[in-house]
Amino acid sequence: MRYDGMTVLITGGAGGFGRSAAPMFAAEGAKLVLTDFNAEGLEEHAASLREKGAEVATLAGSVDDEAHCEETVKLALDTFGRLDVAINNAGMGHAPGRTHEIDSEWARKTIDINLMGTFYGMKHQLPAMMEAKQKHDRAGCILNVSSLAGIGGAPTIGMYSAAKHGVIGLTKSAALEYVRYGIRINAVCPAFARTPIVTEGMMAGTDGGKAAEDHLTRGIPMRRLAEPDEITQAWLFICDPKNSFMTGQAIAVDGGTSAM
Ligand SMILES: NC(=O)c1ccc[n+]([C@@H]2O[C@H](COP(=O)([O-])OP(=O)(O)OC[C@H]3O[C@@H](n4cnc5c(N)ncnc54)[C@H](O)[C@@H]3O)[C@@H](O)[C@H]2O)c1
Repeated sequence: MRYDGMTVLITGGAGGFGRSAAPMFAAEGAKLVLTDFNAEGLEEHAASLREKGAEVATLAGSVDDEAHCEETVKLALDTFGRLDVAINNAGMGHAPGRTHEIDSEWARKTIDINLMGTFYGMKHQLPAMMEAKQKHDRAGCILNVSSLAGIGGAPTIGMYSAAKHGVIGLTKSAALEYVRYGIRINAVCPAFARTPIVTEGMMAGTDGGKAAEDHLTRGIPMRRLAEPDEITQAWLFICDPKNSFMTGQAIAVDGGTSAM
């Protein structure tokens, strides 16, 4: 098993990609620390994972709260004694609009959650991983969830795009800063996937049917939404300890979109 004995922390672990990834890592031997600001969804998901034999610790809170991010790392160390992989996944979009139409408060919130949330996470995950390298010669790994909107312009979601570009800048800078501590740091850039951020967010106001999906995915060569597992399979590959030479990358999982 690829993650045997390792502790994997996933933010936004109650829904979407985080929900899909948790059982996949557990099946590969990982112990899980899951966080989310949806406390009820988090506990319901953790209970169903425990029923299947997974070891799971949870902490409800928001990633734009630095104290919560610090507590999360402490929870991993106190519960499982180590933190091997951290996936900074929690994120959200904002109501669509051209730049002059975006509500300033939501613009700030978008930066706080997507970018500052990733920064707060890394700020507290990195010292634990540096210590693990120094004391136990263990390699750490951080995966930040950016977006296709983080590698190109995304009309009507400009502040989300700005935040996700920021995530990539932070990822690449930190990858260089911590390479000598054996910590690999990468970002993943999904295109539209069938998770609530899309089905309840971007497709809100449509009937959610094939025509709405076709319209949303008209710029994707594969002409369809990704299923969540198609994105999280890539997470398992990127964070796999055997994938030991990959760092500082922003990896698109986008049905071919960025190849155009
Ligand atoms: N689904 C897509 O098409 C897509 C595409 C590109 C990037 N992404 C990114 O992938 C990540 C996960 O998105 P998803 O599709 O699973 O979305 P989702 O809305 O389905 O799930 C996100 C999860 O994060 C939680 N969350 C949101 N804000 C939080 C906060 N401030 N603190 C703690 N938890 C919070 C939510 O409660 C939810 O459980 C996000 O960063 C998103 O921007 C998604």
